[in-house]
Amino acid sequence: DRDQEIARIEGTEDMSALEALRVELLGKSGSITALLKTLGKMNPDTRKVEGPKIHAIREAVQDAITARKQAFEKAELEARLATERLDLSLPVDGGPQGSIHPVSQVMDELAEIFADLGFAVAEGPEVEDDWHNFSALNIPEAHPARAMQDTFYVEAEEGETPLVLRTHTSPVQIRTMMSGKPPFRIIAPGRVYRSDSDATHTPMFHQVEGLVIDRDIHMGHLKWTLETFLKAFFERDDVVLRMRPSYFPFTEPSAEVDVGWSEEKGRRVVGGSEGWMEVLGSGMVHPRVIEACGLDPDEWQGFAFGCGIDRLAMLKYGMDDLRAFFDGDLRWLRHYGFRF
Ligand code: PHE
Repeated sequence: DRDQEIARIEGTEDMSALEALRVELLGKSGSITALLKTLGKMNPDTRKVEGPKIHAIREAVQDAITARKQAFEKAELEARLATERLDLSLPVDGGPQGSIHPVSQVMDELAEIFADLGFAVAEGPEVEDDWHNFSALNIPEAHPARAMQDTFYVEAEEGETPLVLRTHTSPVQIRTMMSGKPPFRIIAPGRVYRSDSDATHTPMFHQVEGLVIDRDIHMGHLKWTLETFLKAFFERDDVVLRMRPSYFPFTEPSAEVDVGWSEEKGRRVVGGSEGWMEVLGSGMVHPRVIEACGLDPDEWQGFAFGCGIDRLAMLKYGMDDLRAFFDGDLRWLRHYGFRF
């Protein structure tokens, strides 16, 4: 009975029960298959009458199975969608958020200040060769800066160029002057290395180099540039500079630059002139350095300066221990880090 079979199909509980019933009805030895086989033995007249009936049963059963199967598939999909649903209306806990390290923050501030003055940002390698780090900068073989206790040497094969971890950003002066045609106006912020460690020294620290090479550059340009930079950086108009004669092999004349400080709320801040503290080294680029870079020192002159970035950050943002900069202590980073 066809209605009975269809009712059975519609009563199946799951896909496997449906499949079992399909085999029972339409399989190789299924009951409807058997019914179809009887057609062959009928005489043509009976077949004419019975054929369409039997085929109609087979078709109705097949349709019922297909419909039931689709119902199961739909139900399964709906169940899956229900469990895998994402409730996008739930408020999210963003989790811990990172922050900008004070050193990165200061580097960004420097790039911005100097961009306004027409300086580009230049870079050089931290593993530097002896020539760029020392020789080209007019630092003779016997200079104490080359002594083992200051410089980290990188092991090199016999006969290879000796390599060092750059002890200052000044080799970027050389790389800049050799990279194109003057005039040049660049700053070069980055990591430098010296084997030194106490409350105010870490074996790795940061410097920013400044270099201007052009015609007719003199110390007035240097002083104006430093004054403009330091006033912008410390965001005060009362930043006073003092230039003291000094010595660097790669500048002549050379000057160390102090800024005036004053006490505000029990803390020394940059500005005013209750006392002096040193912030950078500078000078007019030595003719021998310009010559080492293949330029004519009678045509091209310039100034350079080098400044400790970590020191600048400590002064501006009020940290007192340099080592904390590089400890990776999350409490320190949360306190002093800058929001994006
Ligand atoms: N390279 C020097 C240092 O590390 C600083 C400096 C740079 C001085 C450029 C003069 C000119 O101490």
